[in-house]
Amino acid sequence: MPNDAVAASAGPPHAPKLLRSATPGVPLRGRVRVPGDKSISHRALMFGALAVGTTRIKGLLEGEDVLRTAAAMRALGAEVERTGAGAWQVAGRGIGGLVEPDEVLDMGNSGTAARLLAGLLAGHPLFAVMTGDASLRARPMRRVTEPLSATGAHFWCREGGRMPLAVRGAAEPLPLDYTPPVASAQVKSACLLAGLSARGTTRITEKEPTRDHTENMLRHFGATVRMEDTAEGRIVELEGQPELAAAPILVPGDPSSAAFLLVAALLVPGSRLTVEGVGLNPLRTGLFATLREMGADLAVENERVEGGEPVGDLVASHSALRGIEVTPGRAPSMIDEYPILAVAAAAAEGETRMLGLRELRVKESDRLSAAAALLAANGVQAEAGDDSLAVQGTGGAIPGGGTVNTHMDHRIAMSALVMGLGARAPVAVDDAAFIETSFPGFASLLNSATGDGDAIGPAASP
Ligand code: S3P
Repeated sequence: MPNDAVAASAGPPHAPKLLRSATPGVPLRGRVRVPGDKSISHRALMFGALAVGTTRIKGLLEGEDVLRTAAAMRALGAEVERTGAGAWQVAGRGIGGLVEPDEVLDMGNSGTAARLLAGLLAGHPLFAVMTGDASLRARPMRRVTEPLSATGAHFWCREGGRMPLAVRGAAEPLPLDYTPPVASAQVKSACLLAGLSARGTTRITEKEPTRDHTENMLRHFGATVRMEDTAEGRIVELEGQPELAAAPILVPGDPSSAAFLLVAALLVPGSRLTVEGVGLNPLRTGLFATLREMGADLAVENERVEGGEPVGDLVASHSALRGIEVTPGRAPSMIDEYPILAVAAAAAEGETRMLGLRELRVKESDRLSAAAALLAANGVQAEAGDDSLAVQGTGGAIPGGGTVNTHMDHRIAMSALVMGLGARAPVAVDDAAFIETSFPGFASLLNSATGDGDAIGPAASP
């Protein structure tokens, strides 16, 4: 039961869990669904806690990252209750109505939970301390504490802006006018969350637009949010101190999770797999456009709007891929997808060059190094530059046979296991436990799509 899982998981939650993917891969066929979108799930719980009334959520991702947000909202006084599979309700306290938590807030592995929460806390006159696991404690928080300090909130953190972090929120927060130096939906969202408590207009200028789930959901709850594309970039303006009214939320399937199944289908001969109900917000679908440029047979069926977000069924069939150059402009719309793109590139004919990847260095792991190491361990030539990755494709003949160090990173673990399905020798990962942060049931879903209960299974200890 997820509620209990959160209550019980104050310490390091993970025992190493070795998995390997068998080979030769059995084709992926049929229709599957992936769990709810992680970004939208975090926001649903947070905005639900700030709204007046009861927000009912369907399709919430019940992964560890989101359960950390649920626990934090409870610690701040919201009533958060699970009413069924993926069905949750949040009785909100209204903006400014959160109470001081009497425990340290442990955000586990989740950068999104930690950074968005920093914004929410900045706008409440209370004292709170946040921490996370070893991966999260190594990630930069100054990117949010610096702009948020201009609201009047005070932050204390470890050397280098690392967590644990303490915050005393502002009693009368000032609205921000901020241009983030890096493309980051987390930074934008943290500033907007603080801006909810401020009198006046909070203005964020994004040089490149990033995912706009915060803006969409704030509007859905009744806030006034304007977006305008200008020569300087996208300007997002929020009118402060709105009354957020509880509203139902339907969370679409996570495109970042669907990516693993779709790439598996592209890699394994004979596959034709449909992933139903996937969120298709254009600021999230860069991978799908990139794969099509590489020659992927990847179609969208049954496009519709659900809960204010575009949704569709994605159909992937085994394809011969070719290497391409992926320009830096793609990065914001597929920032979490480079590890699995690297796997697709390994299967392609020719070189794939990915540019503008500096942000990958500060994800759950240094994903640029981890992705290059993942490939190298499996006989694929790859070179990581400062902010680029070049992969020499094998033309469908990935050697495999390696054990991948996942560095506490769910996306590295899933990418490695998908690669194993399309490789000549099995691929193992040293620790698959972190997959639970974003994609509970990953291995069993892949196994059901292959019709082989052991396509992904336990690996022998080294
Ligand atoms: C997210 C934003 C992205 C992404 C993360 C989720 C969000 O991070 O990598 O997985 O929900 O806002 P950045 O803001 O650091 O790019």
